[in-house]
Amino acid sequence: MNKKLLICAYVLSIALASVAQTNVMEVNTKKPGAPIQPTMYGIFFEDINYAADGGLYGELVKNRSFEFPQHLMGWQAFGCVDVEDDNAPFERCPHYVVLSDPGHRDRRTGLVNEGYFGIGVEKGEAYRFSVWAKAPKGDAAIRVQLIDESSMEERQEFVEQEIAITSSDWKKYSVKITSPKTDKHAKLRIFLKGTNSVALEHISLFPVNTFKNRENGMRRDLAQALAELKPGIFRFPGGCIVEGTDLDTRYQWKNTVGPVENRPLNQNRWEHTFDHRYFPDYNQSYGLGFFEFFQLAEDIGAEPLPILSVGLACQFQNWDDESAHVKMNDLQPYIDDCLDLIEFANGPVTSKWGKVRADMGHPAPFNMKYIGVGNEQWGEFYYERLKPFVAAIRARYPDIKIVGSSGPMPDDQPDNTYRFEDGWKAMRALKADLVDEHYYRDEEWFLTNGLRYDSYDRKGPKVFAGEYACHGKGKKWNHYEAAVLEAAFMTSFERNADIVQMTSPAPLFAHIDGWQWRPDQIWYDNTDMFKTVSYYVQQLYATNAGTNVLSLTMDKKPVANQAGQNGLFASAAYDGKTDEVIIKIANTSKVQQPVSFILTGMKGTRTAQTLTLCHQGMDDENTIFQPERIIPQKGTIRVDEGKGSSLLLDDMPPMSFRIYRIRK
Ligand code: AHR
Repeated sequence: MNKKLLICAYVLSIALASVAQTNVMEVNTKKPGAPIQPTMYGIFFEDINYAADGGLYGELVKNRSFEFPQHLMGWQAFGCVDVEDDNAPFERCPHYVVLSDPGHRDRRTGLVNEGYFGIGVEKGEAYRFSVWAKAPKGDAAIRVQLIDESSMEERQEFVEQEIAITSSDWKKYSVKITSPKTDKHAKLRIFLKGTNSVALEHISLFPVNTFKNRENGMRRDLAQALAELKPGIFRFPGGCIVEGTDLDTRYQWKNTVGPVENRPLNQNRWEHTFDHRYFPDYNQSYGLGFFEFFQLAEDIGAEPLPILSVGLACQFQNWDDESAHVKMNDLQPYIDDCLDLIEFANGPVTSKWGKVRADMGHPAPFNMKYIGVGNEQWGEFYYERLKPFVAAIRARYPDIKIVGSSGPMPDDQPDNTYRFEDGWKAMRALKADLVDEHYYRDEEWFLTNGLRYDSYDRKGPKVFAGEYACHGKGKKWNHYEAAVLEAAFMTSFERNADIVQMTSPAPLFAHIDGWQWRPDQIWYDNTDMFKTVSYYVQQLYATNAGTNVLSLTMDKKPVANQAGQNGLFASAAYDGKTDEVIIKIANTSKVQQPVSFILTGMKGTRTAQTLTLCHQGMDDENTIFQPERIIPQKGTIRVDEGKGSSLLLDDMPPMSFRIYRIRK
């Protein structure tokens, strides 16, 4: 063979090889299939990692009501400070402090609050300081300061206000303080002024500029990040904190409504669960309670999905110790909690609990449609307890959809501890509407479970993938690789939208200085936040959900990293609102994959929009210093005329995820 011929043969062989390697997929755009529920992509909020107090909830003062078991925890008291509880203004939060004359004009009495890992304030922002106070021995005054103890300036305080306490009866006093500087770790200092004593209760410092400007509201940037996820469902408040370490510390929604000053403190089980990340001051003020939850769900357009106790204390912490759980005969108050919550959310203002809601400022019903009973419970203890709940809810509220649980693992465990299949069997027998599955699994699991839902029984309850995350082997952080594998696996939700009707990854929030569990979706310190790559994956799905499933196959098989599919996962949807075809594809292989999509039912050329997550460092993540290191990139791609159908040709970079939006 001469040299010219040799080169030609070589070029041809490369061309043939690349043709042979192209992954050809067919998308049938003619026949929209099962509807994709608006609840499909959601959020799950639990007060873990300082997600509520110290996080989403706007309050900046820790232990504002002196109800922590150590009443002055979070406070530094100086001079004459006593904790008292007689004639308290709020019966369920009975403790308050009395500041008295220190006995010499050069001595001082007062308090310093350390906040949650400091108090975060921003330059030019206004903060509302409020306190319930009385001056029993005649007019008194306090000086309120924001201080920077590390400052080398002449003065520690950078802003100050004086408040006259003019009544000998309990009264609320409130002033606005505008911060002249940004400080992530400020403190709040209160001096008694003069010699007349004052009693102080519920000492609060709140940003004025909360999400939707609500007085007892949410930190604006964090709530905004939730809104931008466009969640369809909002699961709350847990998680294991629904159950409590013991029944006394379970989450009791009735303690979280009504005036915020009178909500009793609850221990947070994430305070002590992990002694390698131990936070002895982690409690639940319940300032972000069930009213705030329903209101936030409404604000961000998500269906509220409350989870209530089924009468089981955390099974991880108590296992088969029957004495830890409520006896079957004593279940009624727990069942009443469920029925009353539905009344609180949906009942008329003339009903007992509907009136509580109306008095809190929301006479219109919240229109709640779902309730979960039990978090990730398992075993006979659960099934027998759930039964009377289902009967009572069905009898009074037949339209409410009930979410049961299949336990903490996504399959049967070899040691028979968590019997996943038994859970599903029991939920079918009880006719639960949805079954909540949880999976915190490694890379291998996500790579090999793409067909998980294709074989599910279509006749029984629907699936709620209520907690999931890729926990890399030895890499429990928000690294890029984990997010791509989550994106890949989520194609199986979409393809199986007839049975998978709700999903939410977990956990949602983590404070950089106070986390117990990772990976998480959104991280923050006292003034700044960043979104993880997993967050962007969720957002990409939720904002490109479509309305109906479309069939997408390779060699007539679903694309879920099956043999010969070269690490690809893909699914497609039709968006009836915009008349677009939406394709999602993940390449989980370490090499570039040429892909082609034959769009049957479509003809002609057009330009499609793309959104891509692509990054080289598998262990890299976004951080507070590099919040946008890895974010989705927008682009366009040409759709060509193929043989009788439109044709989209592309190359998927190694370990990448891409969405195409193609106008029909
Ligand atoms: O998301 C953290 C915990 O994981 C939840 O509280 C629990 O439901 C699961 O085990």
